Amino acid sequence: MSVIIIPLATYTTKLWLLFALLLVLSHYRACFSIAGDTLSTGQPLSVKETIVSESGNFVLGFFRPGTSSKIYLGIWYNDFDVKDFVWVANRENPLSVASSSRLELSEDGNLLLLEGSSKTPFWSTNLALPLKNSTEAALGDDGNFVLRDSSNQNTIFWESFDHPTDTWLPGAKLGIDKITGKSKQLISWKNSNDPAPGMFSFGLDSDRSSQLILEWNRSQEYWSSGFWDGKYFSIFPEMGNNKISNFIFVSNENESYFTYSISNSSFRSKFIMNSSGEIQQLAWLTGPSVWNPLLSQPTELSDVFSLCGAFGVCHENSPSPCECLEFFEPFSIEDTRVDDWSGGCVRKNPLQCGKEDEFMQIKNVKLPANAKEYTAVNGWNCEVFCLNNCSCTAYAYNNSGCMIWEGALLNLQQLSYDGGQHIYIKIAGDQHQSTKGNKWKVWVIVAVLVPATGLVLCLFSIWFLRRKLKRKGEEVSSNDLLSFDFNTELHAINDGTNTKENLKKMGKKDVELPLFSYESVSAATKNFSAANKLGEGGFGPVYKGKLLRGQEIAIKMLSKGSGQGFEEFRNETILIAKLQHRNLVRLLGCCVEQDEKILIYEYMPNKSLDFYIFDPIKKKMLDWDARIRIIEGIAQGILYLHQHSRLRIIHRDLKPSNILLDSEMNPKISDFGLARIVGGNDTQANTHRIVGTYGYMSPEYAMEGLYSIKSDVFSFGVLLLEIVSGKKNTGFNKNESLNLLIYVCCFYTPTSSLCSSLFNLNT
Ligand SMILES: *[C@@H]1O[C@H](CO)[C@@H](O)[C@H](O)[C@H]1NC(C)=O
Ligand SMILES: *[C@@H]1O[C@H](CO)[C@@H](O)[C@H](O)[C@H]1NC(C)=O
Ligand SMILES: *[C@@H]1O[C@H](CO)[C@@H](O)[C@H](O)[C@H]1NC(C)=O
Ligand SMILES: *[C@@H]1O[C@H](CO)[C@@H](O)[C@H](O)[C@H]1NC(C)=O
Repeated sequence: MSVIIIPLATYTTKLWLLFALLLVLSHYRACFSIAGDTLSTGQPLSVKETIVSESGNFVLGFFRPGTSSKIYLGIWYNDFDVKDFVWVANRENPLSVASSSRLELSEDGNLLLLEGSSKTPFWSTNLALPLKNSTEAALGDDGNFVLRDSSNQNTIFWESFDHPTDTWLPGAKLGIDKITGKSKQLISWKNSNDPAPGMFSFGLDSDRSSQLILEWNRSQEYWSSGFWDGKYFSIFPEMGNNKISNFIFVSNENESYFTYSISNSSFRSKFIMNSSGEIQQLAWLTGPSVWNPLLSQPTELSDVFSLCGAFGVCHENSPSPCECLEFFEPFSIEDTRVDDWSGGCVRKNPLQCGKEDEFMQIKNVKLPANAKEYTAVNGWNCEVFCLNNCSCTAYAYNNSGCMIWEGALLNLQQLSYDGGQHIYIKIAGDQHQSTKGNKWKVWVIVAVLVPATGLVLCLFSIWFLRRKLKRKGEEVSSNDLLSFDFNTELHAINDGTNTKENLKKMGKKDVELPLFSYESVSAATKNFSAANKLGEGGFGPVYKGKLLRGQEIAIKMLSKGSGQGFEEFRNETILIAKLQHRNLVRLLGCCVEQDEKILIYEYMPNKSLDFYIFDPIKKKMLDWDARIRIIEGIAQGILYLHQHSRLRIIHRDLKPSNILLDSEMNPKISDFGLARIVGGNDTQANTHRIVGTYGYMSPEYAMEGLYSIKSDVFSFGVLLLEIVSGKKNTGFNKNESLNLLIYVCCFYTPTSSLCSSLFNLNT
């Protein structure tokens, strides 16, 4: 800065003052952004500062992606509401200390990303530069960050366009350098919190070809554009020259590459290789600062190779497409929270390698990649071959042959339509009695025995506990609720859904759902004070409680008076303790003492759905996105109860007041007091006691006591109409016989006799 002041001293004092003021101002500005678009020697960029391109399109600076605490250097659009990053320097090597992180030009002219006093850069341009300390770095209006000769700005030593991350901007090249053999390709972020290279990449097929391809793990191709004919790609012509972009293909002795330009310079466009394996072109034409998707390939997520990782199954047309196979668990729970399944799934129990191993049948799948063929005369022959071959992990057999897989199973897809094949997956013995033939027997055993033993054991344990209490006087053997730590203790108890161990637990260890003393429950709710009362459930009051660690819980008491209470209590305990799904309310423990039956649940801060949808003011808090999310969540929860939990469960009392909302307004189904288990193959049952809520009960249940999973679907339908319309089914109109259902029905069939009589249409 003194360099500027010295010549100024010779001018008039007024000018000098003006410049002094400018100096102060520019120094002040430096706290927020470095003046201009250039980084020079001796002028490091700190975490608080940014560089902005000349006309303000792009910004270069430090950021923390998503919920991550790690620090990266990157480039993003200046004027978009959501920061979306077009380039990341240190994607594999994040910084962690904000106060001492900086980008600077080293003495030899390279760009270095440093932290603290360490001399080892987290990232650098790492070039052998011809000139000493005469480089500068500048951010262009096209989003290209360049390292150039400061005295001759056309001499460029390095540019970020040559090192793309997951975004392809207009003017950048995607291709292969034929001299070094290096490819310039897009590589997905691992997930939205982690810019580290993910599994998916997009780039030129080879240096001799002119097609763009998508690959998994840099080797397995799963989509291609087809060859470029100078104007269009042969398979996917929409990609090249559309209303926004014009592609150019260049191939010479040095390099082969695609680049593209924008048809109108006031538009913006980018291609992005996203973490779920799709290549997308997004465009911004005019209007608000949001991107519009222009194209996205492949069209089906299930066409992305191995989206769900090893031993993961991809479900078509599902909002959460990945799941682990039974007897497997996610490799990283942390990653799956951000929908990153690239780590795949791992076995809960290792294979024995030998006769103890068994096979689990999965029906109607698209078979995984990389099968080996083996000649077998029949299915049995094929199975024995796989059993005796320790590296074999699965087999499939059809009339034309035997296929076996070794190592991890990748790209397994459950089809939603017929036309797939059956696959048999090797699992450790003693966790699965069924082989393909007698699977139904297991279902019968499970359906009959487990609930029965569960009931007996639960009754027994309650009886035992009471006896013990009587003998020992007031001495309490239950846990102390107040000091309990659900976060750590429950993992040991309630950590899966479908394993046989869990079924065993359900029988034997069902009572190991933590039991709490009445005293401690009372203390947690301040003696069941009125201030802590949340409301009145179907069978008794519900209180809010607070534990010493600050965790909030909901406490449901079953009223002593209600004759139904005990059966409902037993039912609810056994059922819910075993269910674990993000759209089901979680049971944390129970208390059986002094004739009290108390259930302890996770606390839902946002009450229940009826609280919002029927309230003229609060309903505005639920926009369409939120409502769609809620509808989808309820559907997922019901699907889990009906299909994906091992016991087929019919809830029988779905209604808005039983849909609770968590802090992020995610729906959770609650109140399993009326729920019933039906056998794996039964979908229907009969009851003499018709319970439920009028308005949500299907006609055949309300009239004949016949219930099935369809009863829940009926209730879901009513719920759906209520969420969409914001009107209650019953009490919709003063006319008692006109409820919301009939109203909607008559909207479609106004001429039916019922409707015409209701609406007097024939007069
Ligand atoms: C390098 O920069 C320093 C000031 O940062 C300057 O004194 C020196 O003359 C420069 N050397 C060359 C070769 O330009
Ligand atoms: C990806 O490929 C590398 C080698 O090319 C291999 O070592 C690695 O195991 C592969 N990853 C997966 C998940 O298969
Ligand atoms: C570019 O788009 C702007 C805004 O849509 C429009 O006014 C202008 O005429 C377009 N220019 C060309 C060359 O098409
Ligand atoms: C049967 O298996 C062979 C491989 O062994 C496969 O190529 C063929 O498509 C399968 N046939 C049917 C009808 O699924």
